[in-house]
Amino acid sequence: MKMLDVYCMYPITLKEGKGTILRDTNDKEYLDFYGGHGVISIGHSHPEFVKAINQQVNQLAFYSNAFENPLQDELAQLLGQLSGYDEYNLFLSNSGAEANENALKAASMVTGRHKILAVKGAFHGRSAGAVGVTDNPKIRAAFGSQLEVDFISIESLSELAQHLNTKEYAAFIIEGIQGVNGVWEATSEYWKLARQFCTETGTLLIIDEIQSGYGRSGKFFAHHHHQVFADIVTIAKGMGNGFPVSGTLFSPALNIGKGMLGTTFGGGQMACAAAISVLKTISTEDLITKSGVQGGYLKSEIARLPLVKTIRGRGLMLGIEFGVSAKKVRQALLDEHGIITGFSDPDVLRVLPPLNVSLADCEKLVNALRQILTKEVEA
Ligand SMILES: Cc1ncc(COP(=O)(O)O)c(C=O)c1O
Repeated sequence: MKMLDVYCMYPITLKEGKGTILRDTNDKEYLDFYGGHGVISIGHSHPEFVKAINQQVNQLAFYSNAFENPLQDELAQLLGQLSGYDEYNLFLSNSGAEANENALKAASMVTGRHKILAVKGAFHGRSAGAVGVTDNPKIRAAFGSQLEVDFISIESLSELAQHLNTKEYAAFIIEGIQGVNGVWEATSEYWKLARQFCTETGTLLIIDEIQSGYGRSGKFFAHHHHQVFADIVTIAKGMGNGFPVSGTLFSPALNIGKGMLGTTFGGGQMACAAAISVLKTISTEDLITKSGVQGGYLKSEIARLPLVKTIRGRGLMLGIEFGVSAKKVRQALLDEHGIITGFSDPDVLRVLPPLNVSLADCEKLVNALRQILTKEVEA
């Protein structure tokens, strides 16, 4: 057997990681400004994370949700404290798509409605429901295409008002900051109007914080920058620092009873141990503040570089467009400076480092970009 060939890959095998540094099988070092797609939050092989997982695997790796698991309660309590959603109820699963699938399904169950309103350019995962609320034809299939979903622009207040001013949608789903689409964010006015209409029409506001959450934006959730609250929040990526774990946070006003949701692996002991160590470390190392500070530095320094057309995003979730190909800049960062970054179509460089990235690391990225872009100007 061989692997199904669905991923575009670099011909590099990474063998170890520590903090923001990765090393390949030729012992070449890389500086990680991608975090394995925004997954690494507290840094590669953080000692607390390694200790927590090792202790747990030696004690009990897994048992199902048919038995009590106090680690789940500890995780929910810590998450409530850090996120400000203390009163909400947490459902645990294993991937971002699952977190959204459960959010959408539960929204339909409690409202009795089936239509969903979503945002153009959004990405919510690859399962049928999650793909259904994604308008990218490249990842859609006929299976699931019968779901009734309308898509609106992230910029147009009038489109928002026109669609949300009805009682036909179970939910409006929107990313805290759109990631895969190249780092786009709705304005505060848009967020407030969305909240207002959702409340008035009984439409549930689902905020997908899978990429933008867990401190990446400089606040625990990106929507905290706009002083709005969600009825349902979805989380994954940074939650487990590489251990597969995700969650759906439900408002206590939503009546979701026994048997309505479920999963075999979700909330297993290993996942909880990993997720607890992440939240404790975010707190003890003040990583949310640091994300805002380092991100602010990167944004202002990169904006000043030659050929930078625009830089979007917040904290350590940044998207940069250049007067030259971002793909070329990304390749030069890797080949000439050993710096790993991300990319979005049509031509956006994405920066998603671990939240404990240092100022010195950020200076390295800025200097590398300066060299590459200056060479381009001179070419
Ligand atoms: C905003 C957002 N939602 C959902 C997902 C899907 O997560 P997963 O790949 O874990 O299913 C992603 C993944 O990139 C994402 O960025």
